[in-house]
Amino acid sequence: MSNIDSINKEERRFKVSKDFSENAYYKSEEQYNKLYKESIDSPDTFWPVVANKLSWNKSWTDVFVWDDYDQKKFTWFKNGKLNACYNCLDRHLETKGDQLAFIWQGEKENEVKKYTYKELHKEVCRFANVLKKKGLKKGDRVSIYLPMIPELLISMLACARLGIIHTVVFAGFSVESLIDRIKSSESKMLITCDGGYRNGKTLHFKKKIDEVLETHIASLISIIVVNRVNDDSVILNKDIETYWSNEVFSDDISDICDFEIMDSSDPLFLLYTSGTTGKPKGILHSTGGYLTHVFYSFRVIFDYKPQEVFWCTADIGWITGHSYLVYGPLSNGATTIMFEGVPTYPEPDRFWKIVEKFKVNLFYTAPTVIRSLQKQGDDFPNRCDLSSLRVLGSVGEPINPEAWLWYYEVIGKKRCPIVDTWWQTESGGFLLCPFPGAHVLKPGSASKPFFGVVPEILKEDGSRADVNEGGNLVIKKPWPGMMQTVFKDHERYLKTYWPDNKVYFSGDGAKVDQDGDFFLLGRIDDVINVSGHRLGTAEIEATLASDLRVSEAAVVPFSHEIKGQGIYAFVVMNDDQEISPELVNDLRGYVAKKVGPIAKPDKIQFSTSLPKTRSGKIMRRILKAIAEGKEDVGNTTTLVNPEIVDVLKAERV
Ligand code: PRX
Repeated sequence: MSNIDSINKEERRFKVSKDFSENAYYKSEEQYNKLYKESIDSPDTFWPVVANKLSWNKSWTDVFVWDDYDQKKFTWFKNGKLNACYNCLDRHLETKGDQLAFIWQGEKENEVKKYTYKELHKEVCRFANVLKKKGLKKGDRVSIYLPMIPELLISMLACARLGIIHTVVFAGFSVESLIDRIKSSESKMLITCDGGYRNGKTLHFKKKIDEVLETHIASLISIIVVNRVNDDSVILNKDIETYWSNEVFSDDISDICDFEIMDSSDPLFLLYTSGTTGKPKGILHSTGGYLTHVFYSFRVIFDYKPQEVFWCTADIGWITGHSYLVYGPLSNGATTIMFEGVPTYPEPDRFWKIVEKFKVNLFYTAPTVIRSLQKQGDDFPNRCDLSSLRVLGSVGEPINPEAWLWYYEVIGKKRCPIVDTWWQTESGGFLLCPFPGAHVLKPGSASKPFFGVVPEILKEDGSRADVNEGGNLVIKKPWPGMMQTVFKDHERYLKTYWPDNKVYFSGDGAKVDQDGDFFLLGRIDDVINVSGHRLGTAEIEATLASDLRVSEAAVVPFSHEIKGQGIYAFVVMNDDQEISPELVNDLRGYVAKKVGPIAKPDKIQFSTSLPKTRSGKIMRRILKAIAEGKEDVGNTTTLVNPEIVDVLKAERV
């Protein structure tokens, strides 16, 4: 991989009002600099102040220890004891019991559910008692495959209450991906539903539930089905399946449920994410370090103040939903919003209407959403009252300056700082982000490191990149929210994230400008970022190749106006296959079925061969250049079949 070029220089600067800064947690760059330095130089004094804002059942003996440096095993808040659900609910009951914890907006405008902290606590305790009744206990795994409905958040917290490791599978993934994850995590329970509502349509999950059952997964002893769309064609298998409502409202289920006291290093959840090989990785997060990180980063980066309403538009099936829809806001006693629908249904003003309806103060979304709504014109936001907004956030991919400016001017009315937060499933919480009261904002920059995070840009030879020079973004030591391992594959954790056994490799390229501001330059590995969602090219390639008509496939990203990146597949069919438009649709549909609709290739180009080196390696660099429409694809002398390059260029789709 060559060093990443970076020629763009962002010259525009934005600073929040004096009033905002004076009331923010961190008010000036000097204050941030001083505390950031302390977080790095003296973690033993810095982190206790932060962690003690949570409730611990027993304090830690050490703030951070390497349990095994070579194996990159470490513990934050060693020997500390706490419970994440207690911190998100119970501890607020006395002072905020009647405050709204959670507002759920269904796709249908009139379908709204509101839960105070007391009410949410009760729902969570009841479901935790169901988990107990089903025989689940600390350390067991539960897979959750639900769309954005309240039962999703309730079941996560119920698991956390009992020390059960939840693994949420994005409901847009195929049933095959779900089955893989249930098997890989050896889940004892699956929590799912009979269907959902999306974009004005009713989705039915019956076939999916049946398929899971027919697979006879050895570990799975129970399936709980939420009755969301009242699909009476769903017939439950009484030996293993029951309805959520029958369980939760059963007479023997109480509103009270003790919580399990967990060690700081006990896992809180497992979340699968795509990697550079076909098999998704189970990212395992701890309780104490993770909670401390998301609790504090939510508070100071969104500058959350008591009584404020926060809305993260991400699906809980991704890390953003875990950290900043559930654990971050609730551990702070905030009011968090969950929305079942999409930004453009029934009209492209849906998000702005929700902001107006619930007087959202802090709003967190993705660049792809901003770009798609920007395209719809300013009338949609302009006809809504957005005056409640105070801080805007962005996550998932680099935000292009045009989208940043539209977000700043049309949505935030030049009043609201934008916090562009760079982080990953593996990081648990923010790694790079502006502190809105302290930093000058630059469109497209994720600004400065969060506390405790020591980033560096390395060139291919391992030396430090110069100012404004692109390179590998690495982190030099663990931070509190850092993943613990890849579930049941510690070797893969070491190989993927600590390839030189010294620093954490993020897989992203970045540069730092003369002011120390970071600009992200996209993935440098074989991961595609579609609408802020991570997809491994290897997984899509393996899926295409599993179609018996396909001989081989290579998948690369290309720039996409709305999604950030789109999926471009080069496919070689077996000799006897005829190429037709139907074949394109067929293959796209096949990937959607096997992996999920978001993995569907945007473009498929057929070819008789792929550009390969003498050792048989596909030259992705060349395919990427072709997919981007470039004339100059770089050096082709190492290819065994250089003649294919011109053919591919001429036939590009
Ligand atoms: O490439 C970076 C991009 O998303 C990747 C992480 O994806 P995932 O684990 O699914 O988590 C997404 C939500 C945290 C990163 O490696 N990414 C995320 N946020 C940004 C970003 N790229 C640039 N700027 C961001 N703010």
